[in-house]
Amino acid sequence: MAETKLMRALRGEVHEVPPAWMMRQAGRYLPEYKATREKAGDFLSLCYTPELAAEVTLQPIRRFGFDAAILFADILLVPQALGMDLWFVTGEGPRLEPVDDHRKVALLKPAEDIHETLSPVYETVRILSRELPRDVPLIGFAGAPWTVATYMIAGRGTPDQGPAHAFKNADTAAFEMLMARVTDATIAYLSAQVEAGAQVVKIFDSWAGSLQGEDFVRYALEPAKKITAALKHRHPGLPVIAFPRGAGEKYADFHAATGADCVAIDQDTDAAWAAAHVQNGGCVQGNLNPAHMVTGGQALVDEVRRIREAFRGGPHVFNLGHGITPDADPDNVALMLETLREG
Ligand code: CP3
Repeated sequence: MAETKLMRALRGEVHEVPPAWMMRQAGRYLPEYKATREKAGDFLSLCYTPELAAEVTLQPIRRFGFDAAILFADILLVPQALGMDLWFVTGEGPRLEPVDDHRKVALLKPAEDIHETLSPVYETVRILSRELPRDVPLIGFAGAPWTVATYMIAGRGTPDQGPAHAFKNADTAAFEMLMARVTDATIAYLSAQVEAGAQVVKIFDSWAGSLQGEDFVRYALEPAKKITAALKHRHPGLPVIAFPRGAGEKYADFHAATGADCVAIDQDTDAAWAAAHVQNGGCVQGNLNPAHMVTGGQALVDEVRRIREAFRGGPHVFNLGHGITPDADPDNVALMLETLREG
């Protein structure tokens, strides 16, 4: 298979113009996404209908010409595959049946049973492997165990991950049993995505920033290391992107500590600091503030140039620091890419 620009950057090649894609590039800011979502009926039906999930994955590639596609799915499909009810409340977000005591953790399905629920996702990957242009690799993904566990324990998104911290401190053994189950399920899920044709995987730890000290090591770093090692053992040469969002100074040395090929940087981390303290370990991804996709203009142009400049000394994948929001203007996405590629 031809080595694409994204794959070469992940392996350490430095580019004058870095490859670019965007977190949540298939999403509600695109009218064509909204139309397909309408056709599916609801968000979860869209995730589980391979033809439609493949269609929305392809939409931003056709419209903008990104250098990578990301599988359309959600990190909360894994808890659902472990046996928990999952639904989305319009305008509010996800809801799950909370797993907040030892007994409920023990009732979760074994990790190897997840494929029954998740097989439509693998079918989406197979369709995309056939339909994506040759120079556009497919990124598979999953949530990191801590982030997924925060939703499982609270039954919803929380501003400070309070319920997950409380459960961790009150019954560490049950919490660690839950983390172990999600870790094993994540390895099985990502491995199946790779077998179906995903060429890169990304692990989203959106709430890593709320873990401090030894907790960060045990519940963010160690699981990322375990998942990365297991995947690379099964799929030699597979590039792994890790996203410990909000890690702050704990971003330093994250490559070496986990074995990830690329570390994704959020917008609260200074690009010049990240170039000195993270990019020295390997490829970095990021870190434009998604707010610029709403406001655009000269500030967007200046920021794209500043970030490209900050990371030009090493391998870099241009991206946002977090997902694009529904109020973003597609014209600003085009302006971002035009500015990046102006040479
Ligand atoms: O990046 C992509 O384009 C790939 C698809 C993708 C989605 N979610 C689609 C989605 C990915 C990689 C995710 C990851 C995800 N999902 C994370 C980690 C990254 C992050 O954003 O921090 C988290 C925490 C979730 C859980 C989740 N899914 C929440 C909290 C919500 C509701 C938030 C909201 O904006 O409504 C979702 C829903 C969701 N996942 C949407 C999309 C496009 C919007 C749903 C819709 O169409 O109504």
